[in-house]
Amino acid sequence: MISYRLMKPQDTPGVFRVDQDCFIHNWSLESYQNETENILSNYIVAELDGEIVGFGGFWLVIDEAHITNIGVLEKYRHCGIGDSIIKEMLSLACQNGCVGMTLEVSADNDPAIKFYKKNGFVKEGIRKNYYGNGIDGFIMWRHNLEYEK
Ligand SMILES: CC(C)(COP(=O)(O)OP(=O)(O)OC[C@H]1O[C@@H](n2cnc3c(N)ncnc32)[C@H](O)[C@@H]1OP(=O)(O)O)[C@@H](O)C(=O)NCCC(=O)NCCS
Repeated sequence: MISYRLMKPQDTPGVFRVDQDCFIHNWSLESYQNETENILSNYIVAELDGEIVGFGGFWLVIDEAHITNIGVLEKYRHCGIGDSIIKEMLSLACQNGCVGMTLEVSADNDPAIKFYKKNGFVKEGIRKNYYGNGIDGFIMWRHNLEYEK
């Protein structure tokens, strides 16, 4: 059974492995270690039989939650783990007094855009060439988190 819980320092190698499996622009292991000491950071991990199979994090900026990364190991995708992680993140953001959650997503990342839309996020802006090579970043928001409580 998959469990969803807050990231601990000992989870960082597993989180780093998920990062490597998911992203082109990777964070270092040290970056994730630093996140466990950053009071603004909030990370949820998904654990299956002792293995970190997915994670998602956000920075608490006053009353906004800014998503840093969210990813699921490729072999475990499309079976609801991402949905469960973001629901945990939304709940955690609410508990911390956030009224909105936001992120940037690559304009060519259709699975992620569909994923965010399914979870109530809407596109509210574009950062031109944010990812280089002419690839824009979409700014997406989910407002009114307080109504989740
Ligand atoms: C985005 C991501 C986290 C989704 O995680 P997941 O566990 O696969 O997602 P879920 O199984 O919970 O799917 C939830 C919804 O997302 C959408 N979705 C997920 N993968 C999709 C795909 N490949 N194609 C189309 N829609 C997809 C669907 O709407 C899906 O709902 P449905 O199953 O009812 O159709 C995962 O695809 C991933 O790790 N991608 C690589 C990293 C990444 O791009 N992160 C986002 C950076 S901004």
